[in-house]
Amino acid sequence: MDTTAVRIPDLTGRTAIVTGANSGLGLETTRVLAGAGAHVVLAVRDEDKGRVAAESVRGKTEVRHLDLADLSSVRAFADRWQGDIHLLINNAGIMAVPKGKTKDGFESQFGVNHLGHFALTNLLLEQVTGRVVTVSSSLHRMAKGIDFDDVAMDRGYSPYKAYARSKLANLLFTLELQRRLEDAGSTVLATAAHPGYATTDLHGYGSHPLLRGITRLSSRVFGQSAANGALPTIFAATQDVPGAAFAGPKSMGGTRGAPALSSRSEEAWDGRAAKRLWVLSEELTGVSFPFPPADRA
Ligand SMILES: NC(=O)c1ccc[n+]([C@@H]2O[C@H](COP(=O)([O-])OP(=O)(O)OC[C@H]3O[C@@H](n4cnc5c(N)ncnc54)[C@H](OP(=O)(O)O)[C@@H]3O)[C@@H](O)[C@H]2O)c1
Repeated sequence: MDTTAVRIPDLTGRTAIVTGANSGLGLETTRVLAGAGAHVVLAVRDEDKGRVAAESVRGKTEVRHLDLADLSSVRAFADRWQGDIHLLINNAGIMAVPKGKTKDGFESQFGVNHLGHFALTNLLLEQVTGRVVTVSSSLHRMAKGIDFDDVAMDRGYSPYKAYARSKLANLLFTLELQRRLEDAGSTVLATAAHPGYATTDLHGYGSHPLLRGITRLSSRVFGQSAANGALPTIFAATQDVPGAAFAGPKSMGGTRGAPALSSRSEEAWDGRAAKRLWVLSEELTGVSFPFPPADRA
């Protein structure tokens, strides 16, 4: 990793939660945060894999169970939580999987990548003191808005369309979360990041073996390392950026290199869609934003 790309502050005494921390970008994010002194909780669906991952990290770590495809698991994680959270890193994700449903019946990519993190964030928000960073993707640009009248994608499922929609949802979530935090008078920041194109296990999903093989090979040949792919997340978590900032690599068309502020699609700036998605997500998960608007009198 090019550690000169981001100047990381001392995080001694701080606590961070990283979802999907047992591989890829989540594990590399964990390494950097723990290396800077933070106590990092690896929030993972497979605790054995999580423990192996944690053993490879120098610093203070802890493994806790979290399955974002199951709201009862998200609630159990939040119920057990005690103490301040300096950084909540919503990193876990699945990409281009065959059509499926989460335990609660949501289309799986929307359910894991967006709704699981939506519920987790709101359930933990009163304990967050620093930032909520959500990992999106440049593929969010493929989504031309959220299809509010067919969230289950019953009218036609496409693995990549569903992924793109979930990653657009990550950015709209960040936009509306930041707006609500400001409205509530909170100093907590909501930011987002994307890694460009990084070599991780993410490219091992997909329904067709040939397509799976091609995407895996292409990621190995053209992708940057997972360590470099994690730098935009670290940037969004620790650098002086505005609320709702979106960080990504600045070279090669935003696919690799040192992190910087990144552009996003017009759809990802749509405040009305962000509000509508928020209301829908509250209805679907039964979890709400915990703070009332600040008294501006
Ligand atoms: N790699 C890229 O080029 C790229 C590009 C754009 C965006 N991203 C985003 O980067 C993030 C991290 O992905 P990655 O590239 O590091 O891929 P990865 O190595 O496959 O990591 C994904 C992580 O998410 C976890 N996860 C999946 N479903 C989960 C669930 N139901 N509950 C809890 N954890 C779950 C996985 O756990 P298991 O190990 O148990 O499967 C794994 O730890 C994702 O949000 C992805 O969309 C990646």
